Amino acid sequence: MTVLQLEQIGHAFLGRTVLDGIDLAVKAGEMVALVGPSGSGKSTLAHIAAGLLDPRRGRIYRSYRHHGVIFQEPRLMPWATAADNIAFGLVAHSRKGCPIFRTRVEDAAARVALEPADLAKFPAQLSGGMRQRVAIARALIAEPDFVFFDEPFTALDVALKRRMQDIVIDTVAGSGLSGLFITHDLSEAVRIAHHIVVLDSHGRGVAGGRSVPSSPGERDDRMVFETAHAFLTEDRLFAHVNDYNERSIT
Ligand SMILES: Nc1ncnc2c1ncn2[C@@H]1O[C@H](COP(=O)(O)OP(=O)(O)O)[C@@H](O)[C@H]1O
Ligand SMILES: [Mg+2]
Repeated sequence: MTVLQLEQIGHAFLGRTVLDGIDLAVKAGEMVALVGPSGSGKSTLAHIAAGLLDPRRGRIYRSYRHHGVIFQEPRLMPWATAADNIAFGLVAHSRKGCPIFRTRVEDAAARVALEPADLAKFPAQLSGGMRQRVAIARALIAEPDFVFFDEPFTALDVALKRRMQDIVIDTVAGSGLSGLFITHDLSEAVRIAHHIVVLDSHGRGVAGGRSVPSSPGERDDRMVFETAHAFLTEDRLFAHVNDYNERSIT
């Protein structure tokens, strides 16, 4: 069953076309990675798919219950503690202050390896990696059945990035979560996704897609390295993934 379908999505900023003719589908329980060079319109597409931005053209069909969004930067409320930032993900669903609410915040924090002592801290008192984990806990606490990830781990160091990827892989395997995972890191896409979709380097349609062998969570480092390397060196589809197409510079 398809839970997210984008048909012929097009968008323009100030008269300049950023996306055109984008078709993309995500099935239930599937993690689709969307890769493309910087400036190719990935974030714009994520915002459109999540309903945060209205596209100029195209249609979006969603049949999941409710989604979470994890952005590249944590976007926390600076005046609220880590616990209150995480709880914000629940505000629409529950009442603040009740014991169940507190337990759910603590459980969500534990899932992203945050210590109870960190929950009383404000964002400014946390490291960048901890802030991003707070943002992930905030997105997961409401138990979304679909999550949009927009390069969420780019700013993290290698070890922490792996841990965060494992949380995503385990959540997808354990709860049947579906998602769209945007990244410019092909190794990350190979590690985390069932299927990889490559955006044309100028956002003019989807260049193509490849399924990744075996399941996320069953892939060891060697397999991830070799598959990503083979994609980059032997598969023309991936030839432009590491380009840099920020038009303000070129
Ligand atoms: N709000 C905006 N106004 C004008 N131009 C924008 C806006 N957001 C993004 N762009 C431009 O659209 C293009 C695609 O941006 P973006 O979706 O952020 O790409 P990516 O996430 O792949 O790096 C870039 O050239 C960017 O400068
Ligand atoms: Mg982006």
